[in-house]
Amino acid sequence: MLVEKNVPLQHSNTFGIMAKALTLVRVTNAADIDAVLQEPALQTAPKFVLGGGSNIVLTGDVKSLVLKVEIMGKRLVEETAKAWIVEAGAGENWHELVSWTLENGYEGLENLALIPGTVGATPVQNIGAYGVELQDRFESLDAVDLITGRSFTLNAAQCAFGYRDSVFKHTSTARSSGAQGFGLSGKALITRVRFSLPKPWKAVLGYAEIEKKMLQSNIDAPNALQIYEWICQIRKAKLPDPQLIGNAGSFFKNPTVTPEQCTDIIQREPKIVHYNLADGSVKLAAGWLIDACGWKGKSIGNAGVYHKQALVLVNRGGGANPVTGGEVMTLAKAIQTSVYERFGIMLEPEPVVV
Ligand code: EPU
Repeated sequence: MLVEKNVPLQHSNTFGIMAKALTLVRVTNAADIDAVLQEPALQTAPKFVLGGGSNIVLTGDVKSLVLKVEIMGKRLVEETAKAWIVEAGAGENWHELVSWTLENGYEGLENLALIPGTVGATPVQNIGAYGVELQDRFESLDAVDLITGRSFTLNAAQCAFGYRDSVFKHTSTARSSGAQGFGLSGKALITRVRFSLPKPWKAVLGYAEIEKKMLQSNIDAPNALQIYEWICQIRKAKLPDPQLIGNAGSFFKNPTVTPEQCTDIIQREPKIVHYNLADGSVKLAAGWLIDACGWKGKSIGNAGVYHKQALVLVNRGGGANPVTGGEVMTLAKAIQTSVYERFGIMLEPEPVVV
């Protein structure tokens, strides 16, 4: 096991924020975690698990021991009459996994193409796009308990998936609902994830942008590869490429309100973009709320609101003078305040603030 000191993290977080890991260990297999837990200086240290860094805001040097997940490998575990079961190491790049499954004829992840980050991070925030959430394609995951070193496997119910949420985003006592809960944040490291890709494959098309592509191309029954290409085109057209402009995807979750609250808001704001959910609640488009408050294209210091999609905060600084986590959070708080003042809704950030 190699214990690295003062490791720059600027290229390990998609915002491109400059910060260091005071102590970092690269985890390429479960034995690396055993080695950490047998090292007296490290075994009791607070730990921070770092994947692709695509959903974090670093507000300073990371004092916890950073475990950088680099567990690789992807394979078809099993093919049954009902599904392909595919497994990938937590350190694999998510989009490369999506591409690999399609190249091999295992369809079902195409709507989740081009989401930045690693495989191990996908269950943490239950990634979702264009009508598919990770939980719809999830079979199980393997993880290691960072206190005891024991390996364990969780199914979907045990992961407690929610909208951009799971057991891995919570500590034991604090759940966003306010209820006491069982949380694994900082306590477990995901090593492998298995996906269940249902057979026969069925296209998920319901989104307006996909329907537009179908009309434009005159294709009414697209195959999985066609949907994959469209999703890549749609995302490239409106979301910044983190290689070129640092960002962490959607910065806020789309808030949910009661039908009564929504009716009240509509009376004041007739144009508000909203979607009725199956459980009777109503989801509001956070991007629209932020846009309506005039934030699109605005900046505070080197932190900016992306000009094509107000839900995405971006790094407007150069490589040598990047945005700081403090600037990102100052902008985020200013946005929260103005949305709250106008709509009475407190937006909840999506990334993990470190
Ligand atoms: N809108 C505006 N102005 C804006 C941005 C959006 O008016 O600046 C309006 C749009 O016109 C649209 C509505 O808001 O009517 C919703 O926007 P969009 O379809 O772009 O989707 P979103 O709600 O902003 C969510 C996910 C994305 C995911 C897309 C597609 C969240 C927080 N974000 O975005 O996920 O790709 O749907 O499914 O749920 C991510 O999590 O990082 C992410 C990119």
